[in-house]
This record gives sequence, structure tokens and C-alpha cells, in this order.
Amino acid sequence: MASEPTGPRAIALLGTGLLGAAIGQRLLQRGHRLSVWNRTPERCAPLLAAGAELAATPATAIAAAEVVVTVLSDGPITAAVLLDQGGSALAGRSVVQIATIAPDESRQLDVAIRSLGGHYIEAPVLGSRPEALAGNLQLMAGGPAASVERLWPLLQDLAGTPVRLGEVGSAMAAKLALNQLIASLTHAFSLSLHLVQHAGVEVEAFMALLRGSALYAPTFDKKLERELAGDYANPNFPTAHLRKDLLLFLAAARGAGLAVEGLEGLAALLERATPAGLDGLDYCALHALTAGRPAAAAPA
Ligand SMILES: NC(=O)c1ccc[n+]([C@@H]2O[C@H](COP(=O)([O-])OP(=O)(O)OC[C@H]3O[C@@H](n4cnc5c(N)ncnc54)[C@H](OP(=O)(O)O)[C@@H]3O)[C@@H](O)[C@H]2O)c1
Repeated sequence: MASEPTGPRAIALLGTGLLGAAIGQRLLQRGHRLSVWNRTPERCAPLLAAGAELAATPATAIAAAEVVVTVLSDGPITAAVLLDQGGSALAGRSVVQIATIAPDESRQLDVAIRSLGGHYIEAPVLGSRPEALAGNLQLMAGGPAASVERLWPLLQDLAGTPVRLGEVGSAMAAKLALNQLIASLTHAFSLSLHLVQHAGVEVEAFMALLRGSALYAPTFDKKLERELAGDYANPNFPTAHLRKDLLLFLAAARGAGLAVEGLEGLAALLERATPAGLDGLDYCALHALTAGRPAAAAPA
């Protein structure tokens, strides 16, 4: 896609959680001027140390910027922060919405922001903090071609090779499709791993078979060590967000008339993460849930 000239821009970053903070560091590293707002301002400290300015409210951050980047938890929170708290300042601004939200929520944001005189594109990403810091996220853009084109150099700062998938809603649908695979692959591997261990099969022998087969996915090895050690601390992507995304996928898939019964059990399993205290841990803590009751998980 052809692009506007590159150059530093004045950017408002709303949401400096795990992903937002890493994206903010990358934007500063690329020379952009950053005003940041976060519900918990203490979480902005590393960005302030790197040269960002703290805004007391979303509207203050937006007023100081030409582009607004949002990386908040979900759709309702993004709408509340952007429209209820920042709305009056949005005229003439371009919003780049990165959080994973429902395609319908994204389309509603687009309509609301345009009615306030702003522009909106969705830009969900695959990848996590390390990829964000290095600027090699996989970024899917959804929105009018002209709007995406105006923002292309900025998108390239976050993801070497962004891709425009279509109008608003299209990129969110693709992102949910990818995250359904994260959940399903993690779940499928976890169950198989438990069973071979339960049967006394050496894990490395099983992995060698799997790696040599068409069934192998690199994510299995990426999470194997954590799963064997039961170490789910220091998440880049927490279990609560994986559940959110699976529920969003289920809603979108039901809306498309797909048969989702096979996935509903996984959603029910992920609901158990909250009482089990796993919500804030790495999403491969799903492995602790597939273990079932402690008595069933322990080899005889
Ligand atoms: N982490 C990843 O690897 C990754 C990858 C791709 C996509 N995503 C998506 O990106 C989004 C952010 O993920 P994350 O991992 O950065 O999540 P996170 O660390 O939990 O951060 C969530 C952000 O939302 C804010 N927030 C939560 N509730 C709020 C409320 N009621 N009002 C105002 N602000 C609120 C948080 O503010 P506080 O700091 O005050 O809590 C924080 O800034 C999610 O949609 C996630 O699915 C994440």
C-alpha cells in the first residue's frame, strides 16, 4: 500500500497495560511525541522516564495529539474512555484502536467517532510485549483505504509489514479467528500432554513424534517448559484475555450461523480460571485446568 511520508507525530496513548506500555516504548523509540493516560497513572512511570508526558484525563491526552492509540482491556471500556471521557476532544483526530474487541463493537466505535468529527481504524495485533518492543507485531488493519493509508507509516513502526484486510470489522474478525486458534491449540496440546504423562510416556519421546508430524505447531514447544513446570507467572498475555477473546469469537461465530458446540466446552473450562486464581497468569495456565481434579491429574 502506498503511504504518506514518515515522520514524528503527536500521539495520545490511552491504556498502558502489558501491551500498551510496550507499544508506547516502541512509539517513543521511533521518535513520536507521546501523551499517555492510564486509569492507574503509576503504570505510566516507565514511559514517562522514556520521555512521554502524563495526561490527567483522556481528553487532555487527545487534545495534545493528532493520532489516538487505544490499548484498553475490552470494547465497553474502550468506548467509555474514548467517547464518555474523551469524546469532545476527538474532532479531527485519527483513532487507531488496537485492543481485541468484537467486530460489532468496533463498527459502533467507528460510527460514534465519525459523528464526533474524528476518523477511526481498527488495528488488532498478533504478538505480545517482545514483538511490540521490537516493532514486529503482526498487525491487521480494518477501515477505509484512505484512512489506513494516512496512518501507514505509523502502523509500520509497530509492525514491519502491516496488512489491510478490509473495512472496519474485518480485522477484528480475523484477530478473533487467530485467537480462537491460540485457545484451541493450547487446549488440545495440554490434554494430550496430560494423557501421555499419565500413561508414563516420556515427554521428549512424545514431542519427537509430534514434531515430526503434520500435527505440530510451534506454540506447543513455546509453552512446553512452562506447562511441565506449572509456571504461569509473568504473563505477556493473561488467561482472562484469552477467555474474553474466546467468548467474543463464540458470539461472532454464532452470529455467522456457525456450529460452535465443540468450542463451548472450552469456554466453560476457561470460566473456571477465575475461581482457580488463574485469570492474571499466562494463558497456558489453561494446562492447570485441563488437569481436572488433583486426584485425577496425579499418575497412579
Ligand atoms: N498482552 C498481549 O500480548 C496482547 C496481544 C494482543 C492483543 N491484546 C489485547 O490488547 C488489550 C490490552 O491487553 P493487555 O495485555 O495490555 O491488558 P492489561 O495489561 O490488562 O491492560 C489493560 C488496560 O486497560 C485498562 N483498564 C482496565 N479496566 C479499565 C477501566 N474500567 N477503565 C479504564 N481503563 C481500564 C488498564 O488500566 P489499569 O492499568 O488501570 O488497570 C490497562 O491500561 C486487550 O484487548 C488484549 O486482548 C493483548
